[in-house]
Amino acid sequence: SHTLAVSFALLLRFLVCHALNVTVTPGPVVLVTENDNLTLSCLVSQRKRTTSVLILRWFFSPLTFLIVKMGIRKRNLYGNYTYRFPQPKFHLHEKTEGEVYQLRILSVTGSDQGFYSCKVQEIRKHRDIWRITSNGTSTTQLTGKKIYSLTSLCHIS
Ligand SMILES: *[C@@H]1O[C@H](CO)[C@@H](O)[C@H](O)[C@H]1NC(C)=O
Ligand SMILES: *[C@@H]1O[C@H](CO)[C@@H](O)[C@H](O)[C@H]1NC(C)=O
Repeated sequence: SHTLAVSFALLLRFLVCHALNVTVTPGPVVLVTENDNLTLSCLVSQRKRTTSVLILRWFFSPLTFLIVKMGIRKRNLYGNYTYRFPQPKFHLHEKTEGEVYQLRILSVTGSDQGFYSCKVQEIRKHRDIWRITSNGTSTTQLTGKKIYSLTSLCHIS
């Protein structure tokens, strides 16, 4: 059980030391009004190496789909091959290299309500093979607030 304790300590050390600190702001809940533009920021810190490469993905759930992926050459790939959305709706911007990645959501509608997750993997090439050296995820919930104008209230009565 001594070796077990040592392995556990090593595992713990591995998990703690190899975790990227990923934080999505604002969060954990964002209240938006329809037609607003919203910017979510994914803050990344505690990279293992400054020479490593980050792979970043923004996901939407519960209807899980990939919004955008920033790959090895920093090319942004929007959507996946099964779900399409109007292209200009989302825009990923690297605000501070390796640290701040902003997802801009234009003209929010009710169907944009849900969970937005930023998943980051730190990868490194070792003997010609890319390996994940650490990763981290953070999520924020987008929830809407409907504004009823007086005119639409009058139409109901
Ligand atoms: C992780 O990053 C966030 C945002 O930059 C920061 O507020 C927080 O203190 C960091 N957490 C740790 C454990 O360093
Ligand atoms: C949202 O952004 C678009 C494009 O940048 C702009 O035309 C529009 O006025 C903005 N809407 C609001 C509510 O700020």
